[in-house]
Amino acid sequence: MKELEQIISAAREDFAAAASVADLEQAKSRFLGKSGSLTGLLKGLGKLAADERPQAGATINEGKARVESLLRARLDEILARELESRLAGEAIDVTLPGRGQRPGGLHPIARVQEQVERLFRTMGFSVADGPEIEDDEHNFTALRMFPDHPSRSMQDTFYIEGSDKVLRTQTSPVQIRYMKSHAPPIRIICPGRVYRKDHDATHSPMFHQVEGLWVEEGVSLADLKGTVTQFCRAFFERDDIGLRFRPSYFPFVEPGVEIDMEWSRKDGEVTYLEIAGAGVVHPDVLRNGGIDPEKYSGFAFGMGLDRLAMLKYGVDDLRLFFENDLKFLAQFR
Ligand code: DAH
Repeated sequence: MKELEQIISAAREDFAAAASVADLEQAKSRFLGKSGSLTGLLKGLGKLAADERPQAGATINEGKARVESLLRARLDEILARELESRLAGEAIDVTLPGRGQRPGGLHPIARVQEQVERLFRTMGFSVADGPEIEDDEHNFTALRMFPDHPSRSMQDTFYIEGSDKVLRTQTSPVQIRYMKSHAPPIRIICPGRVYRKDHDATHSPMFHQVEGLWVEEGVSLADLKGTVTQFCRAFFERDDIGLRFRPSYFPFVEPGVEIDMEWSRKDGEVTYLEIAGAGVVHPDVLRNGGIDPEKYSGFAFGMGLDRLAMLKYGVDDLRLFFENDLKFLAQFR
């Protein structure tokens, strides 16, 4: 049967030309599909004389079997090639160094906060907490920073419109909160974030303070000096700390001081950097906390955690701590 031979060789060529499984499917339907040429031959059997049909049918079926085996062979080839090229495309170079996660580390401010907490605990202080969104009363008025008092504008902050809420400008409101809920003796520190509209090399609109408060019978300014000096010696691991207690004014203490520490800047100049405000708690502030000032006295301080970090690590610009530059931060890992 000449026609059958032609169909088989056409199928061989078409299958060989098919480059993908989809191409091959199309070629298959040209021969074996409902209106394919081989199917046409089989349908033509009916027109033959009855005694010719068995022989012709057998021949056509053999031809069909050959086309089918050509098809399978080509399909195997195409699949194998596709697999090979996929494997080649997905190959991994096992000699490349891994991308993995490098070890992280605590932020230098968090690290300083941990050390401060640890050192004050050894001196009998416990760690208290207070809200960052404060009310006017605790942040200002109860600390004798009355609505028209000029000291308010020294720390003007972010007010929440239409309410008495402010982002706390200092950790001092925790003094009031703690005294209201605890009786003396009180010995606490409170580290945390505070907010002010300040921005330069030694100020940032968000920074960290640690408040300290010690209220007990007979506590004086001498205790403040001793406590802060001892803390600084332990924190900086040096006995020759240059500390300066300078008279200053804060509405919630009487007398008040600012505490400066000797600071050798990178440019070689030796100056002082203010690290804290402090003083003997004003009798009215004790009263606002529900404590009898005739019986008890106390000292308080508010120290800048970021300033401590600058001094400890020799950082000249406070803003570096908050810019999230990994090259800077990774040095503290
Ligand atoms: N809250 C003050 C500030 O942020 C610092 C301060 C001064 C805290 C005197 C105190 C204190 O507890 O007694 O400027």
